[in-house]
Amino acid sequence: MKDLLERLGIGELNQGALTGLERLDCRGTVLESTSPIDGKILAKVRQADSAAYDRVSQTAIAAFRRWRDVPAPKRGEVVRQIGGAFRERKKDLGALISLEMGKILAEAEGEVQELIDICDFAVGQSRMLYGFSMHSERPGHRMFEQYHPLGPVGVITAFNFPVAVWSWNAMLALIGGDTVVWKPSSKVPLCAIAANMIAARVVNDCGFPEGLLNVVIGTGEDIGARLAADRQLPLISATGSVPMGRRVGEIVLSRLGKPLLELGGNNAVIVTPGADLKLASRAILFGAVGTAGQRCTTIRRLIVQNSIFDTLKEQLVSAYRQVKIGNPLEEGVLMGPLIDVQAVEAMRMALEEIRKDGGKLLYGGEVLSGGVYDAGTYVRPCICEVENSYPIVKKETFAPILYMIRYDALEQAIEFHNDVPQGLTSSIFTNDLRESELFLSSRGSDCGIANVNMSTSGAEIGGAFGGEKESGGGRESGSDCWKAYMRRQTCTINWSGGMPLAQGIKFGDP
Ligand code: UN1
Repeated sequence: MKDLLERLGIGELNQGALTGLERLDCRGTVLESTSPIDGKILAKVRQADSAAYDRVSQTAIAAFRRWRDVPAPKRGEVVRQIGGAFRERKKDLGALISLEMGKILAEAEGEVQELIDICDFAVGQSRMLYGFSMHSERPGHRMFEQYHPLGPVGVITAFNFPVAVWSWNAMLALIGGDTVVWKPSSKVPLCAIAANMIAARVVNDCGFPEGLLNVVIGTGEDIGARLAADRQLPLISATGSVPMGRRVGEIVLSRLGKPLLELGGNNAVIVTPGADLKLASRAILFGAVGTAGQRCTTIRRLIVQNSIFDTLKEQLVSAYRQVKIGNPLEEGVLMGPLIDVQAVEAMRMALEEIRKDGGKLLYGGEVLSGGVYDAGTYVRPCICEVENSYPIVKKETFAPILYMIRYDALEQAIEFHNDVPQGLTSSIFTNDLRESELFLSSRGSDCGIANVNMSTSGAEIGGAFGGEKESGGGRESGSDCWKAYMRRQTCTINWSGGMPLAQGIKFGDP
């Protein structure tokens, strides 16, 4: 483990503020990064204090002034090389993600792949920062829009995807001509230091030593709030819980900055009588148990037609029984630990509430102990039968709890589906064209992402990622999301020699 950390540039005590490759002296308190696998300390981080934050922010501003002048395809070339560097470091970085966050190696390497994919996407996009041109209503006028670099952008990320979510933001920001100040979750600071170093090394080697990519590590109340309030950062992208998004959004909006929020989900899958149940159970197992139920895209609710409820329940319980729980670095393990004992406690309390409300525990839910489980972070994933109306079902509990809910008619299923405050991802299992079209219609799923015959989780980077309602409304990653990281400008050029006004207004004309 020591070798791995060394290879990734992590020492025993690390500074919590980085501008590019430079590590700034910090005066904040020391944060211990512990592994959820066994509760042991991996390394320590001296957190950024306000002076360190100010230096990082100043560096990001100065770097922006130079970076915005670099042609976008040249910026893309730097990102192309960053992608190359992550390809080479995929195994190491994947192992660190497993160690610090606890997801299984296959998923951790998948996360690094997501990072590599967005690099590729951003390289292509760097030659396609298109604006429309439009026909002016005035003679001899030309009208078009263009996209300029926006400024240094703040990126706040959650523990569950320690590097991928940063990369969705950072790689598009880089090709857009922006610089980045990243505040990662304090639960996974080492992944942030390692990833930023890998990318910053490339940036340096390409001849841009100024600190295009920066990191500040500290608490949300202190460094997070400072970043959100920083008027020099026109955009703050924040991924995490709804309460976090609300706090950050309020601060950013109070200074009329741009918040880009990608928050919690309460994702449901509707399973109809004609669905392929084998396919459905496989997808549901991945969607509900993958990353130990700690994805914002995790399947939390299963809305199942009465006639197939028991069959699907049995299939799922038997699939859940096969899930090997343990050290996420070990071959064959499908579910690692939860991020910490607090997460285990939150799961325990949610199960308590379900029981009180009259819910039925169908499988699992125990906290595991003994041997490898002694860290107190391992649980058995669980399935409960509930009513959609229970208050606890409307909340996102970041743990592997799958709620099964019965329905009679599809319209009722869609009503249950949409009757939660969140609106991130969704899916329907059906072989009936009419059912899937209804689900995808304006009367169907109200989420930012709607799938057919697949999990709600595991989205590709090519689509816009994000949700509606309390899920925050922001979109990150593919499609045209790059526009959020650029300043849009509408230009009108008068080459006519006359001064015709729009809307046909005559104003003191001779
Ligand atoms: C998140 O949990 O914040 O769709 C992001 C997925 C991943 C991203 C999840 N590609 O599950």
